[in-house]
Amino acid sequence: MPITHPPTPGNVLWVTAHPRAASLNGRLFLEGVDALSTRYYQVATSDLYAQGFNAVLGDGDLGDLAGVPGNLAVQAGESYAAGQLPADVQAEQAKLAAAELLVLQFPLWWYGPPAILKGWFDRVLTDQFAYGDLDPELGVPRRYGDGGLAGRRALVIVTAGEDERSIGPRGISGDLDSLLFPLTTGCSGTRGSRCWICMWCTTPMPWIPRRWTRR
Ligand SMILES: Cc1cc2nc3c(=O)[nH]c(=O)nc-3n(C[C@H](O)[C@H](O)[C@H](O)COP(=O)(O)O)c2cc1C
Repeated sequence: MPITHPPTPGNVLWVTAHPRAASLNGRLFLEGVDALSTRYYQVATSDLYAQGFNAVLGDGDLGDLAGVPGNLAVQAGESYAAGQLPADVQAEQAKLAAAELLVLQFPLWWYGPPAILKGWFDRVLTDQFAYGDLDPELGVPRRYGDGGLAGRRALVIVTAGEDERSIGPRGISGDLDSLLFPLTTGCSGTRGSRCWICMWCTTPMPWIPRRWTRR
C-alpha cells in the first residue's frame, strides 16, 4: 500500500526554531502566521523552543522496541505503524499530514538549521510516515517525489548574519541553495514537492527580503 496523507485544503503548518520571541525570527513568525491566518488559511504552528520540543531521537521513541538491537530508522517506522510513537511526535505528524503548505522558518546556525529543528526532522519524519514505500516494479525504496507527503508545497524562510557577498554562488561560505540542499530536497518531508527559499540577511540591511529561489 502506498503511503499517502491527503492534506486538508487551506491547512498550513508553520514550524519555527528560535529561542527568543523578541528577535527577527520571533517577529517573522508572528507576522507570517498572522498574515496567512487573515487570508483564510488554517495555520497550525510548531514553535519548537516554546514547546520545549525534545530534539533527541532515542529509545524513548521506539515503544516496545526500546533497547531491542536493530536499525533505528526501521524500528521508528515499526513504532509508527504500531501507534507507539511518543505523543509529541504523533501530534507533529498529525499537523504535518493535514498541511498542504509547510513553512520552515529559522536562523542559519553553522550553515544549517538549529539543532532543535534537525531533531524535529529526526523524530517526526519517520519511516512508514514520510517515506518507506517500495517501488512495485523495482522492489527498491521509492525516493524523492514519491514520499508519503509528496505533492505539498514548502516555504523555507531563513535569516542569516552574512549577506550574498559571502552566501552566494561564489561566496566564501558557500551558496544558500547548496547549504540548504538536504533540507529542501529531503528533510522538508515533502520529497518532490515545490519548495521556495526566502532569505533575510541581518547585514547590511535587515528586514529586506533579499532573494527567493525555487527548487
Ligand atoms: C550559533 C550560531 C551560529 C550562526 N551561524 C551562522 C552561519 O553559519 N551563517 C550566518 O550567516 N549566520 C550565522 N549566525 C548568525 C544568525 O544567522 C543571525 O544572527 C540570525 O539569523 C539573526 O536572526 P535573529 O535576530 O532572529 O536571531 C549564527 C548565529 C548563531 C547564534
